[in-house]
Amino acid sequence: MTAKNESWGSRVGLILAMAGNAVGLGNFLRFPVQAVQNGGGAFIIPYLICFLLMGIPLLFTEWSIGRFGGKMGNHSTPYILDSMGKKSIWKYVGVFGIFTNIAVVAYYTYIESWTFIYVFHTIFGTFTGMSKEEVSLFFEQYVNLTGSDLGIQFLPVFIYVLILGVNVYILSTGLGGIEKVAKIGMPLLVLFGIILAYQGWTMGANYASAEFPNANAWDGINFLWTPQYSSLADPKVWLAAAGQIFFTLSVGMGSIQCYASYVKENEDIALNSLSAGFTNEFVEVLLGSAIVIPIAAGFLGLDWVMENAGFGMAFQTMPYLFQQWGSVFGAIAGVSWFGLLFFAGITSSLAMGTPWMGFMKDEFGWSKVKGAVSFGVIALAMGLPTVLFFQYGYFDEYDYWAGTVSLVVFALLEIILFAWVFGINNAWSELNRGADIHIPVIYKFIIKYVTPVLLLLVFIGALFTPEGNDWSGAISALLNGHLFSLDSSSLISKITHEDIKAQILSNPENSEFLEKKMWFSSLARTQLIVLFLAIAAIVWYSTINRKKSFL
Ligand code: ALA
Repeated sequence: MTAKNESWGSRVGLILAMAGNAVGLGNFLRFPVQAVQNGGGAFIIPYLICFLLMGIPLLFTEWSIGRFGGKMGNHSTPYILDSMGKKSIWKYVGVFGIFTNIAVVAYYTYIESWTFIYVFHTIFGTFTGMSKEEVSLFFEQYVNLTGSDLGIQFLPVFIYVLILGVNVYILSTGLGGIEKVAKIGMPLLVLFGIILAYQGWTMGANYASAEFPNANAWDGINFLWTPQYSSLADPKVWLAAAGQIFFTLSVGMGSIQCYASYVKENEDIALNSLSAGFTNEFVEVLLGSAIVIPIAAGFLGLDWVMENAGFGMAFQTMPYLFQQWGSVFGAIAGVSWFGLLFFAGITSSLAMGTPWMGFMKDEFGWSKVKGAVSFGVIALAMGLPTVLFFQYGYFDEYDYWAGTVSLVVFALLEIILFAWVFGINNAWSELNRGADIHIPVIYKFIIKYVTPVLLLLVFIGALFTPEGNDWSGAISALLNGHLFSLDSSSLISKITHEDIKAQILSNPENSEFLEKKMWFSSLARTQLIVLFLAIAAIVWYSTINRKKSFL
């Protein structure tokens, strides 16, 4: 039943693969947007506190859980959690750890495919001479499949399938292949990041021109780095900060546990998990904040950035702005930027393939090739609608339910299992076994109480976000014995599509499109539920299989 253990080739390989898992598109596309939308310097302090009080404890938890499961021959969360919890419900909680990865990889590789094609467009000078509006339109037509890039109408679909195929191929070579990609991709990514960040930090007002007379990168940098303490009392900022920590560290997903299950029995996990986590933070905070925002704000002004912050900025705006640096450095910057995004993306998407493969190998003896190909087929079935119906929000729907909500739910359940069911004393000795560092004992307290309470608060906050994010109003209403109205962005309102219904009311002229959006949103949710149930059914079947093989 249990597969003969593969393991990582070297400690450096393991840390790079884990850091590669964490460092992803989230570091360069999601982080800057979250920072801007949540007040720049107002975001950083809650973000760093969330890293210390949720990110690090969850890294400790997931590495420990993973190594513990690996020792028993389990390489994905259903049986890893089962081996710790002893009640069959935990097996089904573990379904999240396969589900989330497949659902996220389905749309994540679509973004990866954009970065890939944009490297070639930069090299072949597609954007040279285009106006700002033309570069922006090019991207819109690309993602909405309304243009004909290189004269091929469905090129985005082909490139998406190609990139999924590249992932499948690398996955089929096992941990060795993943380690190799991380060893090449991570240093290149950091090098590209340093080139761009250096330019971002130092361009100052050097590129002022007739078109951009006020160009000055310091506005963006100051905006991000001037702390504003008022945000500490704003739950909306805390929710955003926590969401970013989850996504960027890949905690609550299931991939860290899977990677850690291939660590040797007494190999250090304390220092390794911190090394991978801090590498991610270095890349996110220092490089992620030094590229898109300072450069875009430098040329287009901070107000423009605040109005237009979204991850499209990276594709719609940057190719045009890079040209302001001259044709040679502009091309170097473009290749560095999209190349960096590509490596960031692929080292993360590879990690998302491993839980499914690990599970099928452990339970049904599937080879790496069979595991990788089947993963590719399921990811394609899940992902194609996100490509074809991108404009109807299919992609966003996956990102919200699988890439945001699932992470918090799973993280909460697994830390309860680790600290309360498995028991904090067992958990603490599991974490410290073979440790090369002494973890401050305060983390025992944090893992047991602080992180679960914070996770619960984050979840409740997302469920019941009050109208207009007015938390103080909501709290005083509750204290006076009244209920408060929910915001259309709250999880509960989303379930009943209140967010889209509100848009229909305020934009009746757009109602046909919005009704369609609502329909596609329900379809996307159905597809996610079917995926979850299908994985749960396979897990259930595997229990029968296990019983048979014990007879
Ligand atoms: N952790 C990965 C990222 O940041 C998923 O993109």
